Amino acid sequence: MNVVLGVGGGIAAYKAAELSRLLQERGITVQVVMTVSAQKFITPLTFAALTNRKVITDLFSDRGGDEVLSSAVEHIRVAQDNQLLVIAPATADLIAKMALGQADDFLSTLYLAFTGPVVIAPAMNTNMWNHVAVRNNVETLRARGHVIVEPGEGLLACGTTGPGRLAEPAMIAQEVSRELFGPKDLEGDVVLVTAGPTEEPIDPVRFIGNRSSGKMGYAIAEAALRRGARVILISGPTNIAAPVGLEFIRVGSAAEMHSAVMEKLGAANIVIKAAAVADYRVLNASTQKIKKTAARLTLELEPNPDILAEIGAMKGDRILIGFAAETENMVAEAKRKMLAKNCDMVVGNVVNQAGTGFGADENAVTLVLRTGEVVEVARASKREVAGWILDQVGRLRLVG
Ligand code: PMT
Repeated sequence: MNVVLGVGGGIAAYKAAELSRLLQERGITVQVVMTVSAQKFITPLTFAALTNRKVITDLFSDRGGDEVLSSAVEHIRVAQDNQLLVIAPATADLIAKMALGQADDFLSTLYLAFTGPVVIAPAMNTNMWNHVAVRNNVETLRARGHVIVEPGEGLLACGTTGPGRLAEPAMIAQEVSRELFGPKDLEGDVVLVTAGPTEEPIDPVRFIGNRSSGKMGYAIAEAALRRGARVILISGPTNIAAPVGLEFIRVGSAAEMHSAVMEKLGAANIVIKAAAVADYRVLNASTQKIKKTAARLTLELEPNPDILAEIGAMKGDRILIGFAAETENMVAEAKRKMLAKNCDMVVGNVVNQAGTGFGADENAVTLVLRTGEVVEVARASKREVAGWILDQVGRLRLVG
């Protein structure tokens, strides 16, 4: 396997040397490409010695004659010869260039010419990382299906404390391996995933909603896509850009989600319901904005259709995975929902612990399987949890 390691200009550039070594230990051939600023932090010689290959530093070499012509198309050759592009550290500038499609040096030009998987490990000052422009650019890249290896938190070289530190090289190497050697066990499957909250209108300007961000469901959809499935993602309102490479349907209310799921159900052989669907909607929602008065206001609610239970009742050969968001008795509730809604597995999710569940980047879940097994999944990123959930599909297939 051949991988391009793109090194951006940040203080963490020296850690890319360790990354190149770790990748080679996994039997991967590494071609290093450095930006001009990266060379201010670490010399190409270090990478040339570590990888035993010439490091690419320029879009146009100054060697003259025919070599200029061949270097002008070198980014195309490098794009064709490598199976993955990993960028570490990815600076705010590099991330912006990739998001915009700006190509003014070898690495950014190679990025546009490259069609394989891309792993991006950002590193920068905390305020820069939190800046809305960087957040938006990162989300654009994530929506393209690129893997973002989130920066860690800690004391940064600039003296501030917070997120922005390059992820550990071992973690980046693990993500690269997962992309290169991960299972393609869902090839031929059609996976329908629901994600995010629903919004139940009270009047034209107000609604009843919940705290779901969609992160868990989107992570599952993207993981299924990486494992070779055709994916249909039906999402309530979220701030996450629609991922590319899958069929994406945006809905508002539970009733809209119900219609979209029922319309697409026939195509799917695996259904995963991570959405936080409102159990009730407002009866006779007002068509005009409700005026404020001194009097109390009572909203009458009526039950929404239980989409999961409805699918369970007509499940056929499908594999059906539901979620159970609980604040107490999680395993018992997950088991109860699994039987009541005829699921093959229910992902039990405690949702009253800081740092996991609704809105968080991490989750801690317990998988309750129809086989009677109960699998505790340690607290981890939603991306990793998504992988563990999909790992169970193979087992559920075996038991029929
Ligand atoms: O979106 P994030 O911020 O990443 O947060 C993730 C999450 C906490 C929302 C997710 O991990 C999760 O737990 N999702 C299920 C939330 C939920 O609605 O749980 P529930 O126990 O109320 O519902 C049980 C199951 O029935 C769920 O699969 C749900 O999608 C489904 N359901 C519920 C009600 C309804 N009317 N129709 C349904 O299909």
